[in-house]
Amino acid sequence: MHFDRSIKIAPSILSADFADFGREIRAVEAQGADWVHVDVMDGHFVPNLTFGPMAVKAFRRHVGTVMDVHLMITPVDPTIDAYAEAGADILTAHVEAGPHIHRTLQAIRGAGMKAGVALNPGTPATAAEPLLDLVDLVCVMTVNPGFGGQKFLDMTAKVRALRAMIGDRPVHVEIDGGVDPVTAPLVVAAGADVLVAGSAVFRGGSADDPAAYGENIRAIRAAADAAL
Ligand code: DX5
Ligand code: ZN
Repeated sequence: MHFDRSIKIAPSILSADFADFGREIRAVEAQGADWVHVDVMDGHFVPNLTFGPMAVKAFRRHVGTVMDVHLMITPVDPTIDAYAEAGADILTAHVEAGPHIHRTLQAIRGAGMKAGVALNPGTPATAAEPLLDLVDLVCVMTVNPGFGGQKFLDMTAKVRALRAMIGDRPVHVEIDGGVDPVTAPLVVAAGADVLVAGSAVFRGGSADDPAAYGENIRAIRAAADAAL
């Protein structure tokens, strides 16, 4: 996985058909997804429950791009080896998920994955500042984590501050929540390069009829590229 700051669209399979993940993943990739975003929720750190490492390992066989795994769980550390074994390329933990984020990020890299840190909407950019040499990605949540299809919260100032702190480091800035062709340009202009989108990618299509996935991805990408 080489580093670059071109715009990457990462569909969240939280908005896919939960009875058909394999075909849904192959469909969004065939329709132009750059990465596949996998939302792991534990019903404890967030008020929703999705799937764990066994399911993520099963998804891996269908992902030909980059499997970007977003952990909305606590504790994180006991599960890191299982997500490495499941084949996660990037493993992102929330800075709010425990008292020892350094230990968590070191363990993620130690297990051979790229490390990400996610910030809830209420967490300031400065929370990531001491971590920038330990991570490959900072995920700025633009909704309260837990559900797809929520209204975008404007975190543009936070994105701009993070991008300035990151400087020349090879660290991605990812935006997660409420990304669509209207909101994508705002965050891209502020310095984001990875756009997670669930409902705005999966709406209107299906694994049987995936053309809308491609139209949706192209619409987000065109709006984002126009903001560069
Ligand atoms: C929210 C998840 C997101 C979610 C985004 O907790 O982390 O990845 O799927 O969904 P949309 O794009 O519908 O806001
Ligand atoms: Zn996510």
